Amino acid sequence: MQITEHVFSKKMEFTANTPFGLLKRHAFVFLVKGTEKNCLIDAATKPLLPEVLDFMAETGLRPSDIGEILITHSHSDHTGALKSLKELCGCPVAASKGSVEWIENIDLQFEKRPVPRFYEFVEGSVKVDHQLVPGDVISLGDGSLKAYAAPGHDQGQLVYFHPEDGVLLSADSIPVPGSMPVYDNVQAQLDTLYRLRDIPGVKVLLMSWDDPHYGEEEVRQVLDDAIAYVRHIHCLTMEAVGSLGADDVEAVAKQVHSALNLAPSEFTKMFITTIKAHMEAKEVSNAIF
Ligand SMILES: [Fe+2]
Repeated sequence: MQITEHVFSKKMEFTANTPFGLLKRHAFVFLVKGTEKNCLIDAATKPLLPEVLDFMAETGLRPSDIGEILITHSHSDHTGALKSLKELCGCPVAASKGSVEWIENIDLQFEKRPVPRFYEFVEGSVKVDHQLVPGDVISLGDGSLKAYAAPGHDQGQLVYFHPEDGVLLSADSIPVPGSMPVYDNVQAQLDTLYRLRDIPGVKVLLMSWDDPHYGEEEVRQVLDDAIAYVRHIHCLTMEAVGSLGADDVEAVAKQVHSALNLAPSEFTKMFITTIKAHMEAKEVSNAIF
């Protein structure tokens, strides 16, 4: 799907097993074209490699046309096919300093974050050639990509803004009201949402768990809604702790899950981790109350 003159996106769908059934998930892969450099952003899962290559072909690019692969964060649905893609493209891989360890050592990633079907999704460890820090700008010729810190969902996550087209590639940084929230640091998650809301000139917002949003006003509303959703989850968690106590995290999470009307398959370890983060966030300074 062509988003703007330079930015193309493709939804990559997959399923994950949970104790309560199959959970349908997806992640996006982006291509950003420039007169001097084309970038692939994120690398889907290992089984989706053919679809990533088809996507490149649809946009008129060969793997050898890719000048750099940028990674938003190390999770399996964003790095699964990276090993093959790096070889096929023959180009460097760039990621944040905070993502390098888990990309370069997938066994360590699985040990710390044992998501279902991890080794089916991820091909192998990959050397990161270029460590990015927030504020770094990748020049593409007639455009650029600026990296912004976006911790919360993942502490090393970066998102990329293409100012010339006004497109923000926000990856997994924005929780969507009514869907499973996935973050492990509430304050960092809120700070990220405020930071993204302050980026001037965002005319198109691309996010992992929702359709694209267009227009600066709509983008701001999406971010305001996400902030309100995190605050709402915090209030529900505090209520559940008030009635159930803080000893049984799973029971608290169950009550919040029910109050949010989420699907049974969305009662995952990731969701429980999110609620645990709310329980541990004794003081959340960004005016939650
Ligand atoms: Fe993620």
